[in-house]
Amino acid sequence: MTSSSQTSRGSWGSKIAFIFAASGSAIGLGSIWRFPLMVGLNGGAIFVFVYILAVFFIGFPVMLAELTIGRHTQRNPVGAFKAIKPGTPWKLVGYMGVLTGIFILSYYSVVAGWAFGYFYKTLFGVFRGEVTWELSDRIFSTFAANPLEVLFCLFIIIGLTTFVISKGVKGGIERWSKILMPLLFALIIFLAIRALTLTGAGEGLAFYLKPDLTKLNPKVFFFAVGQAFFSLSLGMGTMMTYGSYISKRDNLVSSAGWVCFSTTLVAFLAGIIIFPTLSATNNLQGLKVGTGLMFQVFPLIISKLPGGYLFGLLFFVLLLVAALTSTISLLEVPTAFLVDEHNWPREKAAIFVGALSFLLGIPSALSNGAVTWATQANIMMKMDLIFGNIMLAVGGLFITLFLAYSWGITRALQEISFGNKSFRLKPLWIFNIKFLAPLAIILILVFIRILTQQ
Ligand code: TRP
Repeated sequence: MTSSSQTSRGSWGSKIAFIFAASGSAIGLGSIWRFPLMVGLNGGAIFVFVYILAVFFIGFPVMLAELTIGRHTQRNPVGAFKAIKPGTPWKLVGYMGVLTGIFILSYYSVVAGWAFGYFYKTLFGVFRGEVTWELSDRIFSTFAANPLEVLFCLFIIIGLTTFVISKGVKGGIERWSKILMPLLFALIIFLAIRALTLTGAGEGLAFYLKPDLTKLNPKVFFFAVGQAFFSLSLGMGTMMTYGSYISKRDNLVSSAGWVCFSTTLVAFLAGIIIFPTLSATNNLQGLKVGTGLMFQVFPLIISKLPGGYLFGLLFFVLLLVAALTSTISLLEVPTAFLVDEHNWPREKAAIFVGALSFLLGIPSALSNGAVTWATQANIMMKMDLIFGNIMLAVGGLFITLFLAYSWGITRALQEISFGNKSFRLKPLWIFNIKFLAPLAIILILVFIRILTQQ
C-alpha cells in the first residue's frame, strides 16, 4: 500500500509554474554540456538534424505519455505502475527507473561539480584577461585530474541536492527555477550572438548546420534518441513524478510541447556558441572531442566579451543552478519512491540516496585524468552509455508499450482530455506511441548490439 493520498501531495501553483519546473529539470547539463559533446562525436550537423526529429517523433510523445500516467496515478513511477496494473511485472519498469536515476545522478553530479569548480575558479580570477585554447585546455585538464578537488565538488553538489530534496518538492524546486532559468536563457542568447559575430565563425556554423550525409549511420540514430531522452529527462519516470503534481485543469499536451521546445532551443543555442567559437579560434580542425568540451570552450567566448569576468561569473552561477534543478529532479524519483512505497521519512530517504550516488560517482569523478585505470576504462562515458543512452531508451520503450498495450490509449486519452479540449496532434501521437516510438527504439537497440559486437 502507498501512504500518499491525493490531499497530502503538493501541486504546482499553475500551469506556468509546472512548465518552469519541468523545464528546470530538462534544461541543464544535458543541453549545454552533453548535446555539443554528442554533436562533436557524431558528425556535426547530421546529428543535430536527427536529434530534432527524435525530439519531435519520440521525445514529445513519450513526455506526454509520462505526464499522463503521472497525473492519472498521482504517484512515483513504481507506485504508478502498481496503481494501474496491480500485481503485474510492470512495476519493474518503475524499479528500473529508480535505479537508472541513481546512476545518472552519480556521474551527472560530477559534471555539475565541474560547473561549481569553474564558478570558484572564475571568482578567483583564473580566467582573467585573454583566454587562449591552450590555457583553457590546461586549466580543465589540471582541474579534472585533481582527485581531491573533483571529489570535493561532487560532494558539494550532492550535498546541496540532498538538502533541497529533503525539504520537499514544491518549495524546493519551484522557487529556484522561476527567476534564474529565464536569466540563463538571456545570457545564452547573448553568448550565441557574440559567437556568431566572431571572424571565422562560418566554418563552425557549417559544421553545426550543414549536414554531411556520409556521416549518417545507425550510431547517429542511437545517440540522437539517447540524447533526446536524456535532455528531456525521459525514460526513468522523472516526468511521471512531475506529472503527478499537475492539476487536472492544466493542459498536458501544451505543457509537454513547451518543455520540449524550450529544452531543444537551449541545446541548439549551446551548439551555436561552441562550434563557431572553435572555428574562430582555429581549434575546430583536428579537435579531439572529449568530456571537457563545453568547459574548454565557454571561457574562450566569455573572455571575448567586455566585462568578461562578470559574465563568466554569472554564466557559471546560472549553469550551476540549471544543473542543480536537474540533479534535484533526478534525486526526487528515488526519494519519492522510498517515501511513498516504503514509508521512509523524506529526509532519511534523500540522505540515503544522496550518499549512495556520491559513492557511485567516485569512479566517474576520477576517470578524467585523476586515476589512470579509471581514465583508461573511461568510466564516466561508459556509465553515460549504459544509463544515459541504453537504460533510458529501454525505459522509454516500456513506457510506450505500457501505455499503448496495457493501460490502453483510450484511457490515456481520457486523462489527457482534462484541461485539453482540442488535441490536434492526436492521430500522430497515437501512431507514434503505438508503433513509431517503440519500433524505432527496438531497432536502434538491436543495431547497437550488432555494432558493438563487431
Ligand atoms: N535532463 C537533464 C539535463 O539535460 C538531466 C536529467 C534530469 C535527466 N532528470 C533526468 C536525464 C531524468 C534523464 C532522466 O540536464
